Amino acid sequence: MAGVVVQDVTKMFGQTVAVQDFSVEIKDGEFFTLLGPSGCGKTTLLRCIAGFAHVTKGKIFIGDRLVSSEDQRGFIPPEKRNLGMVFQTYAVWPHMNVFRNIAYPLKVKRFPERELRERVNIILHLVKLDKLEGRYPNELSGGQQQRVALGRALIMNPDVLLLDEPLSNLDAKLREEMRFELKELQNRIDVTIVYVTHDQSEAMAMSDRIVVMEQGRVHQIGTPSEIYKKPKNQFVASFIGKSNFLRAALLDVKDGILRLKIGSSGIIEVKWRGHMTGEEVILMVRQHNVEIFKKKRENTLPARVKLSTYLGDQFIYEIAVDRDTIRAQVHEEHHYSEGDEVYVRLRNPILFQ
Ligand SMILES: Nc1ncnc2c1ncn2[C@@H]1O[C@H](COP(=O)(O)OP(=O)(O)OP(=O)(O)O)[C@@H](O)[C@H]1O
Ligand SMILES: [Mg+2]
Repeated sequence: MAGVVVQDVTKMFGQTVAVQDFSVEIKDGEFFTLLGPSGCGKTTLLRCIAGFAHVTKGKIFIGDRLVSSEDQRGFIPPEKRNLGMVFQTYAVWPHMNVFRNIAYPLKVKRFPERELRERVNIILHLVKLDKLEGRYPNELSGGQQQRVALGRALIMNPDVLLLDEPLSNLDAKLREEMRFELKELQNRIDVTIVYVTHDQSEAMAMSDRIVVMEQGRVHQIGTPSEIYKKPKNQFVASFIGKSNFLRAALLDVKDGILRLKIGSSGIIEVKWRGHMTGEEVILMVRQHNVEIFKKKRENTLPARVKLSTYLGDQFIYEIAVDRDTIRAQVHEEHHYSEGDEVYVRLRNPILFQ
């Protein structure tokens, strides 16, 4: 096992900045996720860590070895970094059966037959393919093929496993199952995992820590709960969880209680520890924290139900609050119809300037 240190890394492709001034310290044995929208530089950073791309600026360490730096001296090639990698398109060899696919890296290194068989058997067991070793990829499900790719990445006992959207080709149900399998796998072997995804729920479910990134830059690094509960800015708040944003006028602050006017429709009080100044703030509230009432209650805003969607165990309501529209996620017993005049309470809001 080894940690990975990315120190002030910038990667340019001509004039395009793919990764910019990026620093992160991934701990030994950590499940660390790069999370961000398409094109934000996740794959590029992973390729720099792997050694398939050279950094334009900065340094990368794996364990205490310097593996990449801007002057290219001492650049360590991918095959000497002791990494395993699974790409988004999990290229398993179609003409090789499961056993031979997994054994391939050992074959290339000319491992003696007996040791090769022993090692592959251990990995087959680990990725739960023991009974399928003779099958060819076209005789396997997507999830099983994914496990072949994982097995092949693990066969050389890598210190670090780099996974680039490895579940994106699977259907929703299988993707969820594989999340648990990956997490469980990491508990059984000692390996640091750097995982790439643009799927926030995947990142939340598996990671020890997450970096939320945009346009090659770091927005926030933290545990899933830190990022969910204390998003640093609006971008992070909108990327993680189901959020609503409302513009509000800041009327006054007294003893840590802010009075906010939302549109022309009403005034609410919000307890807030952070410092807020100026005339306007952005109020963020998660969908499940929007409460709906038929009659006016303390600290509520008048609103109107625009749309109601039934999801089995809950309703999602679209609600007009003055000129803004927010969404509320409510459990079945409260039922409101489209056009109903209601009152909403915004629980646990987070404020941004
Ligand atoms: N070889 C290349 N030449 C030029 N530009 C590139 C190259 N590779 C990536 N880029 C650009 O760098 C930026 C980051 O790309 P990257 O593939 O790292 O994004 P990503 O976060 O992995 O996106 P996705 O979620 O869609 O896979 C993009 O603007 C992309 O167009
Ligand atoms: Mg990518």
